[in-house]
Amino acid sequence: MLQVITSIEDIKQRIKTFKEDQLSIGFVPTMGALHEGHLSLVRQAKEENDKVVVSIFVNPLQFGVGEDFTQYPRTFDDDCKLLSKEDVDVVFNPKAPEMYPDGFCTSVVLEHLEDRLCGKSRPGHFRGVATIVLKLFNLINPDIAYFGQKDFQQTVIIKRVVADLNLGVNIKALPTIREKEGLALSSRNGYLSETEKKDALCLYKALIRVQEMANAGVKNAREILGEMEKIINNCKSARIDYISIVNPETLEAVSEVQHGDVAALAVRIGKTRLIDNIILMVLIAFFILLA
Ligand code: PAJ
Repeated sequence: MLQVITSIEDIKQRIKTFKEDQLSIGFVPTMGALHEGHLSLVRQAKEENDKVVVSIFVNPLQFGVGEDFTQYPRTFDDDCKLLSKEDVDVVFNPKAPEMYPDGFCTSVVLEHLEDRLCGKSRPGHFRGVATIVLKLFNLINPDIAYFGQKDFQQTVIIKRVVADLNLGVNIKALPTIREKEGLALSSRNGYLSETEKKDALCLYKALIRVQEMANAGVKNAREILGEMEKIINNCKSARIDYISIVNPETLEAVSEVQHGDVAALAVRIGKTRLIDNIILMVLIAFFILLA
């Protein structure tokens, strides 16, 4: 049965019993408003661990001034129903004052990585993400933690934090779950009107086009980016925040596209900022030399 835990003391106690019983722990951090994307992570965690803990916490530290912290959808009861159905063991739903008591002033800063891509227009965002994820890792002490490829930069940053701070948590990044037409599922899709939802398909169309161009042997990033820009600008309600093709570890923009590079974009559809990305498969010709 799903156990709801809201205090730090209680989650520590519960985790202690799991550890004493030598049970492995899979952890899925979320901000709630759960959808099939989140549930895909939960299902994988169920498959690979004895116990699964999901956190639901709309983390104030990762929202900037003027962002949607207050409007962010909070659907805790429905979320718990979904998690019960998936047979999750524990949902950790702390309160902000306990996570960030008066005097809180420590945070995780990533030189280089946090000011690129989304970090440019959301200063402080990844510092907030890295800090809360580290706090949650310290409380939950998971064997494996699950993240979505959809938030590509987030997965790169979390892997970096784990490596740099010797956290000993295995990080898994799982594929993006999409609607049938291609729109990546997101808790923020609920902000879109029906027309905007159709317009939002331009993100996916642009990413598919990148892959097509890569398949056709186009390697010049500027040429590919130009084509993406055209597709997105064709849609009246879309405003590009950034489009970029980056190295998957350094997040630095590349000029020549290679296998494994990531095309990433953030686009505003009306007032809603959406992100998406694709890991590029660049065909490599193999020549088999027969002796
Ligand atoms: P949230 O946006 O709720 O996402 C929780 C996890 O679900 C993230 O790892 C995210 O990448 C994944 N996810 C979201 N949409 C997905 C989709 N369409 N397909 C697959 N996975 C998807 O990301 C956060 O919360 C926060 O930043 C958090 C890590 C919880 C820290 O506060």
